[in-house]
Amino acid sequence: MTPTTAPECITVRTEGRVGIVTLNRPKQLNALNNQLMDELGAALKAFDADDDIGCMILTGSEKAFAAGADIGAMASYTFADVYKGDYITRNWETIRSIRKPVIGAVSGFALGGGCELAMMCDFIIAADNAKFGQPEIKLGIIPGAGGTQRLPRAVGKSKAMDMVLTARMMDATEAERAGLVSRVVPLEKLMDEALGAALIICGFSLPSVMAAKESVNRAFEGSLSDGVMFERRIFHALFATADQKEGMDAFVNKRKAEFKHQ
Ligand code: HXC
Repeated sequence: MTPTTAPECITVRTEGRVGIVTLNRPKQLNALNNQLMDELGAALKAFDADDDIGCMILTGSEKAFAAGADIGAMASYTFADVYKGDYITRNWETIRSIRKPVIGAVSGFALGGGCELAMMCDFIIAADNAKFGQPEIKLGIIPGAGGTQRLPRAVGKSKAMDMVLTARMMDATEAERAGLVSRVVPLEKLMDEALGAALIICGFSLPSVMAAKESVNRAFEGSLSDGVMFERRIFHALFATADQKEGMDAFVNKRKAEFKHQ
């Protein structure tokens, strides 16, 4: 469902060529329900289709990126409800179809579906108060938005099993050490850091940025030789772009490249 009215569970703004989506259900620590996920999907798709946007940031509040799927909403669901309604698959994974980069700027709790949503971003910059966890086991369920698959790929089997089976949280320092997040910064610097990274990305040729994202994502599907072949073909194809000529000419002539995103 694409909302026709202004979103209620998120706020959306731009900063130069950066599209910023902020999860906004503060009373529920940004617990994720279907309305929020519909609104988030629509906002990300709109930015993806907008030629004036080169990169996106997804963030929450200081206290919570998102404390998980909305437990109150889920509590009465039956198997028939979630199976027939295609819960999660129907609208939670829109972010996976976004072709421009999405940076997760995470402060506070990123638990359950919140941790899974953060892991669906292309990379995570964490504030020093961030806490990651997959505590679903305490509710008699398991992670259901990719956590059992993305967490081991990010941090290895042992740590992923530890977190999924014991429900313990990982702080920002441990998350950086384990490779779950790319950088940790003081809380008050989080948005500056994320915006700085996003603006750098926006300065590059958009086709090469999109191709780089697509190629790195191939590392998580299929074999190494298929992934390397995919990368090689995309690499070759980028020699057809005007931005490749511009980027290399700028280097050779010791000037700044002016990319046209084509
Ligand atoms: C609904 C939630 C919520 C959630 C917090 N709240 N998490 N509501 N769903 N996931 C609500 C609380 O009920 C409370 O509402 C308000 O937010 C503030 O939370 P408190 O618990 O009072 O805050 P605090 O003591 O600081 O504890 C923070 C917390 C705790 C550690 C994050 O709230 C917590 O454990 N939350 C649940 C985390 C969790 O289990 N996540 C996984 C969900 S399952 P009131 O009205 O009382 O003020 C999941 C499935 C994923 O994500 C698979 C499919 C996507």
